Amino acid sequence: MGKLFVCDHPLIQHKLTYIRDESTLTKDFRELVDEVSTLMAYEITRDIPLETVQVKTPVTTTDCKVISGRMLGLIPILRAGLGMVDGILRLVPAAKVGHIGLYRDPETLEPVEYYVKLPTDVIERELIVIDPMLATGGSANAAITALKSRGCTQIKLMCLIAAPEGIHAVQQAHPDVDIYVAAIDDYLNDHGYIVPGLGDAGDRLFGTK
Ligand code: PRP
Ligand code: URA
Repeated sequence: MGKLFVCDHPLIQHKLTYIRDESTLTKDFRELVDEVSTLMAYEITRDIPLETVQVKTPVTTTDCKVISGRMLGLIPILRAGLGMVDGILRLVPAAKVGHIGLYRDPETLEPVEYYVKLPTDVIERELIVIDPMLATGGSANAAITALKSRGCTQIKLMCLIAAPEGIHAVQQAHPDVDIYVAAIDDYLNDHGYIVPGLGDAGDRLFGTK
């Protein structure tokens, strides 16, 4: 079973409150999602490996640490995952970005794939699938399956808000994938929206409703 991390740093929880608030308008919503993504990136990169190098300081030569191992790849699920990309790139600017376009059919709630464009060296990278919302888990599962079917093996999932149903679905389908969230909410309503949630993440990020 993949591990589940709840990023409960006070700054993340504070900003998430204003992200949820329906009176927060598009500009502030976008900025807050960006800021929380940076803070969550700090948590999700906590276990990346280091190696020792020698550095000559003006005083002496000493052993220091640098990041080693696989390079990162960010995989935003379109549209709403786009809102988290820049915040993560701020900490890991060398990461490459691949895009997976999915929308949820409003009737069936099943994900429909419409776009996939990945870095050519994607299978060599440690990947972070990003999407603000983990509701039924259908979109995240479809994105992870799309990556695995192309040979990717090192995959984490990062979401702002998750429903228990979505966490369960990903853990069942992809037990090798660790999940990072800022909050676990109560349940899904009859329309597949997370309660209390934040509404429609894509619409709130891009001002489309
Ligand atoms: C939202 C959200 C996730 C998905 C989560 O996208 O950004 O991708 O729903 O729901 P699930 O866990 O039940 O699959 P949406 O389909 O609204 O598309 P959009 O980002 O283009 O608005
Ligand atoms: N997608 C969203 O944007 N919000 C939800 O609550 C569920 C799915």
